[in-house]
Amino acid sequence: KNIVILISGRGSNMQAIVNARIPGARIAAVVSNRPDAAGLAWAAERGIETAVLDHKRFDSRDAFDTALIETIDRYQPDLVVLAGFMRILTAGFTGHYAGRLINIHPSLLPAFPGLHTHRRAIDEGCLIAGCTVHLVTAELDHGPILAQGVVRVLPGDSEDALAARVLTLEHVLYPRVVSWFAAGRVAVGADGSADLSAVD
Ligand code: GRF
Repeated sequence: KNIVILISGRGSNMQAIVNARIPGARIAAVVSNRPDAAGLAWAAERGIETAVLDHKRFDSRDAFDTALIETIDRYQPDLVVLAGFMRILTAGFTGHYAGRLINIHPSLLPAFPGLHTHRRAIDEGCLIAGCTVHLVTAELDHGPILAQGVVRVLPGDSEDALAARVLTLEHVLYPRVVSWFAAGRVAVGADGSADLSAVD
């Protein structure tokens, strides 16, 4: 299966997916909207194709997303993986990749969509926190949940300490979900729902 990974920054989740050497998964390209994303150099050093599409060069979200689709589709992806890709995507984009577009979000969705998830979890007095991998739909940080990982929020936890523990879990969870897709184990129905009965 051809996998295209979208990043905007350090790309530690992208690295975890690449390093997992998932059978049946070929990392066809890593695409960034930011020319200075640290993850780009990391991927290029490993011989992975990279592409940059700077959103600042486009007048509208639609124009950017149309160009992004063109770039991604050159690699004929079976799965598009958002890994710290910090752009809101149009319904045109999410519709184009319906059922083959996934994201990892650093909270236990549906709690805390959006930014500053760890701070909000601490401020709300949550005793657990975690991360969610989900199919991407037009609504930000929504869409059918594919997997979740849970950590304890410890007394006195700082935002950074909690974020670091959740990130360690992200690096385990995300490659695992990609491996399910690579093995053809996630069935997405016509209504967009995910059948997970065949996954481990
Ligand atoms: C992760 O916390 C991920 O959950 C969120 O953005 C961060 C990306 O980190 N969507 P990295 O670029 O993969 O290191």
